[in-house]
Amino acid sequence: MSTTLENKALRINDVALDFTADSSEGKIEFHKWAGDSWVVFFSHPKDFTPVCTTELGEVARKSAEWKKRNCKVIALSVDGVEEHKKWTADINETQNTKLDYPILGGQGAKDAANLYGMIHPNASDTFTVRSVFFIDPKKKIRAQITYPAAVGRNFDEILRVVDALQLCDRAGVATPVNWKQGGDCIIPPSVSDEDAKKKFPKGFKTLKPYLRVTPQP
Ligand code: BEZ
Repeated sequence: MSTTLENKALRINDVALDFTADSSEGKIEFHKWAGDSWVVFFSHPKDFTPVCTTELGEVARKSAEWKKRNCKVIALSVDGVEEHKKWTADINETQNTKLDYPILGGQGAKDAANLYGMIHPNASDTFTVRSVFFIDPKKKIRAQITYPAAVGRNFDEILRVVDALQLCDRAGVATPVNWKQGGDCIIPPSVSDEDAKKKFPKGFKTLKPYLRVTPQP
């Protein structure tokens, strides 16, 4: 596995590169820390900023939701760990929560940000943008999103993507537009009708030969 610090784009199904960095909870060896969990690895531009404060608070308020999905969360900004610790008190106070996940910081976090392409030079040479990497238990990147500094992310959507990825893996379906937990699913075109009958005992509707809908398995 390459651990070059060049800012190469990581893409879907690439291995989520390993790194070591300090965090608000001590030194993190990323792959070891991830263990056999799913991971949502997200960056934010800067400590002591308003949008980031609301985002990190929301991630902590969703603690039980991440656990339900065997999903760990980890944040990164290029500020130092001592700043992260001071800022955490503000987040807890203003967002009515208690942060229970690590925030990576310092030089190791800067290196990791470069590895993961979280610094977009045309946005800022020094700050990370709002990146999110969805990483499965085999350490593969399964999805990613990127928002600019001024736009806070929707962590309900991020949970929805974790749900969809886990469902696709478990049941061999795909999820249609605006899918939510419990909604109808799509049978991938690679599955024949004959196999679909065996695989999806709840049955399916064929709207077009390439568009078959089944209740969520
Ligand atoms: C914020 O989190 O509010 C923020 C951070 C960097 C630039 C702009 C806004």
